[in-house]
Parts: sequence; C-alpha cells; structure tokens
Amino acid sequence: MNREVIVSSGKIARELSEAEVKEIEHELTLYPDKKAVGLEALKIVQRHNGWVSDESMLAISKYLDIALSELEGVATFFNLIYRRPVGKNVILFCDSVSCWIMGCEKIRKEINDHLGIDYGETTEDGEYTLIPVPCLGDCDKAPVMLVGEKMHRNLTADSIKSLSSSGKAQNKSGE
Ligand code: FES
Repeated sequence: MNREVIVSSGKIARELSEAEVKEIEHELTLYPDKKAVGLEALKIVQRHNGWVSDESMLAISKYLDIALSELEGVATFFNLIYRRPVGKNVILFCDSVSCWIMGCEKIRKEINDHLGIDYGETTEDGEYTLIPVPCLGDCDKAPVMLVGEKMHRNLTADSIKSLSSSGKAQNKSGE
C-alpha cells in the first residue's frame, strides 16, 4: 500500500473543542482502553465539523495517544469517515444487488442530471455530496438512499426532483 495516500500531511494538530472533548471523554468511560475509542472520536469530530481534516486527525491521535498511522487505518477502513470536505447533505446511495435489480442505475442517472454530480462529487452550492454505499438494509423498498439522516425508499425520478440544488459538480473525492 502506498503510505503517502493514507497518511495525513497536516503538521499541526488543531485544538479540539470543549464539546468534542466532552463527548470523547464520555466514550472513554465506555471502553476498556483509549485505542478502542479511536473510531468514536473520529465520528464525534466529523459530527462537529462535517469531515475529519489532517489537523483533526493529529488532534485525536495526540488526545488518545494513538499512533497517527493507526488512526488513519481506522478512518480508511470505515468508509463513512470523510477525509475531505463534503456537502451539507451527504447522499449515501445504495448500489447493492436489490437496489441494482430495482433500477438504481436509472436513479443515479436522475441524480447526475438533476444535481449535476456523480459518485464522489459535491454540488457547487455545497448542498449535496453523492457517495455509493453497500446495502442500507431496506432491500424490500429498493431502490433506496439515505440523505443526511432521512431514508428515501422506493425511489423514482420524482423523489430525486424533490432534492433542491442549483449546484453542478464541484469536486471529486480523491482530487
Ligand atoms: S440492496 Fe439496497 S438496501 Fe439492500
């Protein structure tokens, strides 16, 4: 594996906010050791900031005394930790087998046309980022997608038109 791809390039840790520290401290009471809290800390920081910057990675690494490379490994493995800025609303779009059989490719095309974004891209207005995910556990209502915390089931072209955005593709993750 090319370590340059997965290791943070930020040099200076940012300061964790009081709220972040409070939540991480709470997690520390629930787990037997600091290392086990790594993923929860990443989720906490992401909840507060929308994504996890290199500076945040360093801050968590220092706070929990976990090697940065170890924390990067956790973030890489858990693909819902965003290491780049994402839109206000992340669309987790199921492209697993039931959704595929039920026509999710057509729905994806609707998203491409309506919002102007494809996988890994964010609309120019910063409203939406589209990310493909494996089964969301709602196969009998396929095709489905999760927008923020709201599940959208039995998707049709009209469901997509109800997403408002003036945006066009802004960036691809990984660029
Ligand atoms: S395959 Fe899409 S929700 Fe299960």
